[in-house]
Amino acid sequence: MYILGIETSCDETGVAIYHSERGLIHHLLFSQIDMHSEYGGVVPELASRDHIRKLIPLIKQLLHESNTLQTDITAIAYTAGPGLMGALLVGAATAQSLAFAWQVPTIAVHHMEGHLLAPMLEDNPPKFPFVALLISGGHTLLVKVSSIGQYELLGESLDDAAGEAFDKTAKLLGLNYPGGAKLSELAKLGQLRFRFPRPMTDRPGLDFSFSGLKTFALTTFQKSEKTNQDKADIALAFQDAVADTLAIKCRRVLQQTGLTTLVVAGGVSANIKIRSTLTEMIEKENGAIYFPRPEFCTDNGAMIAYAGYQRFLLGQTQGLEIFAKPRWLMIDL
Ligand code: KG4
Ligand code: ZN
Repeated sequence: MYILGIETSCDETGVAIYHSERGLIHHLLFSQIDMHSEYGGVVPELASRDHIRKLIPLIKQLLHESNTLQTDITAIAYTAGPGLMGALLVGAATAQSLAFAWQVPTIAVHHMEGHLLAPMLEDNPPKFPFVALLISGGHTLLVKVSSIGQYELLGESLDDAAGEAFDKTAKLLGLNYPGGAKLSELAKLGQLRFRFPRPMTDRPGLDFSFSGLKTFALTTFQKSEKTNQDKADIALAFQDAVADTLAIKCRRVLQQTGLTTLVVAGGVSANIKIRSTLTEMIEKENGAIYFPRPEFCTDNGAMIAYAGYQRFLLGQTQGLEIFAKPRWLMIDL
């Protein structure tokens, strides 16, 4: 069985083919980052138009390069939300049109479930039950995962998502959108000079708050001489604070749930410092940790094809209506 996956929720056009026995067959990604960086952030209308331009050619290329015929495709999975409405509609309308033409069902996939299941594409996938830390540009979630679709929200960010805090802090240090990965590069040149708070770790609970760190970075920057070294030192202090905060909350959630497996996914899980801090924590707790390969941390079609395959196995296909839900809670799945 071949599942075509389509991701268009934000600023990446991603497509992939997943096969029930052979696993991931092929995937392609077109990133719109160069286009949006001129404006310092994602421009939703430009994102939609670019998905329209790129999606069909990318699907054609995907089928061609993987020697897959359209008649081989069993079902089409697409990101139905959460995300930018216009961008989601491009993926949904394209998926439904192809499904109508090819006479196959569609599967509406939740973007964060895609991220959550991305580590399942690796050779040694995690086994249920586990705790998932999902850290992306729009979400920071701690979820207890008992099986596909059995998700219990244990903690979330009360303000900025982890990726959003990275991007905003990067911006104030003069780095271009999306600044997360660039901030992490800059932090490599940093020296341990500043110590930022570890927000909400001095009280019980599993929620996060990252917006104060961005403000802390801003005031530290304003008080500094604003040299390149100052910027690097602030980047390092900010990144260390996020990594430690995530590790403290993850240790807490494992102790509270009695679970020993942690899955970390979403764009920010590509961050090397966060990966190493969480790995050190898990080793001390005698647990196991799983990440997607770096290219599947950020948005991609492979995770949507895989999540779609799992939903297809549960019989969750959809009619021909165009379903797009910009706001969609994962616990409603
Ligand atoms: O999962 P994702 O691609 O999109 C959403 O679903 O939001 O996550 C994008 C976020 C951005 O905020 C980006 O700056 C951040 O992930 N990001 C990183 C790194 N790579 C991507 N943040 C910190 N360090 C990185 N290496
Ligand atoms: Zn994402």
